[in-house]
Amino acid sequence: MDSKSYVVQMNGSAVHGKNAVNAKSLNGTAVNGKAVNGKSVHHVSVNGSIYPAKAKSRRQRWDVKASEMANNTLNPIRAIVDGMKLTPNPDKPMIALSIGDPTVFGNLPTDDTVLQAMKDAIDSHKYNGYSPSIGYQKSREAVANFYSCPEAPLEAKDVILTSGCSQAIDLAISALCNPGDNILAPCPGFSLYKTVAVSMGIEVKLYNLLPEKSWEIDLQHLESLIDEKTSCMVITNPSNPCGSVYSKEHLQSILKVASRHCVPVLADEIYGDMVFPGCSFHSLASLSSDVPILSCGGLAKRWLVPGWRMGWILIHDRNNVFGSEIRQALVKLSQRILGPCTIIQGALESILNNTPQSFYQSNINFLKSSAELCFNELSTVPGLTPIMPSGAMYIMVGIDIDHFPDFSGDVDFTERLVTEQSVFCLPASAFEYANFFRIVVTVPEEMMVEACARIREFCQRHYRPRSRDSNELDQ
Ligand SMILES: Cc1ncc(COP(=O)(O)O)c(C=O)c1O
Repeated sequence: MDSKSYVVQMNGSAVHGKNAVNAKSLNGTAVNGKAVNGKSVHHVSVNGSIYPAKAKSRRQRWDVKASEMANNTLNPIRAIVDGMKLTPNPDKPMIALSIGDPTVFGNLPTDDTVLQAMKDAIDSHKYNGYSPSIGYQKSREAVANFYSCPEAPLEAKDVILTSGCSQAIDLAISALCNPGDNILAPCPGFSLYKTVAVSMGIEVKLYNLLPEKSWEIDLQHLESLIDEKTSCMVITNPSNPCGSVYSKEHLQSILKVASRHCVPVLADEIYGDMVFPGCSFHSLASLSSDVPILSCGGLAKRWLVPGWRMGWILIHDRNNVFGSEIRQALVKLSQRILGPCTIIQGALESILNNTPQSFYQSNINFLKSSAELCFNELSTVPGLTPIMPSGAMYIMVGIDIDHFPDFSGDVDFTERLVTEQSVFCLPASAFEYANFFRIVVTVPEEMMVEACARIREFCQRHYRPRSRDSNELDQ
């Protein structure tokens, strides 16, 4: 008999470093794959002959299918954009106002202190190994200190480091929701919530934002959607795609709804503090004494390094509603990918403590003046209604589609804008919202001026006064 089977036991504690494999024994007998003493047992068959293949179950041909989870993972932005015919006008250079990556044009570099922190982390040789799956204690402490405030105190134990804010959202939804549950998400809103939820069999109920009220939440609509299967409500503040920033009073009203129905909140605050001068950002947690909140954030936008993939969840649970169960759930789920890149974790404390205020300030001044430029230009374009943002890096522009009979809706409108003017704006259908488009305001000023001029020319060519309007004009 030459068949051998190695039984490798893992005790599930440290999965890295020298403790990775805690017991390894040579064993000639099969153990039927059952857990032994609560420890998982993995068979490693050396020549494969220990488990004779059953004739009946043997596959006759290859038939490898994608998993249901993969098939149910859909990005609405890709679904819309990939279906568009984007053929720019060869006589005009392309201007993409669609990409939510502030680094693409090179006009908004991160600060030197941020780069230096990263270089120092590499040079220290201290951050080449595995970290705990929720991140180094020191790095979590740094995040806790940076965001802690008397109304919403934080300690290292309340911070989970993640691979970008995207993973923070994924973890938060995975920890709070089961298949068959539902979550409430904004419309228009960032598409990832739906992508993550639907892939896990979680229903997404969209609550309306009100453009005429600077994209405040329609609270009655929000409340009407809650049922016994609602496991969390997602609040994005400041907002992508709207650039809106909610007032303290509005946030308090949102919290009242959550409190009344005992629904925890996922606060997507990746654009936290990115608000224009004259406007204030209030984190949801700083206004609540009872609603349990998972606040998701990261370095991507405020520090202008989205590719570094550093995000976090801040656990706010002053009444111990989440308790150890949700904390443990987050820890367990974080063990699926063992935390974010350790070099950036090593740089985190220095990034948070040493980035000068002048860096944040000059970026926000730039975003405000770019948004104002775009708003002022497009306000006087026939058939368009831009809505002035108060923060983040976006502006939404309404299309009075009745005045553009050449187009069936925002997708058609933005597609033809590319064909004729080589300007690409994201149709708001990508955010499940019709007859708007989103402009990213991180582009250099001269590009924004040129893009707005081309949008004006395009609208002037296609705008048709409604017949009643033209009658009125004739009289
Ligand atoms: C509202 C919102 N949340 C989360 C994210 C994801 O951030 P990250 O790049 O850190 O994963 C984005 C990115 O555009 C966003 O706009």
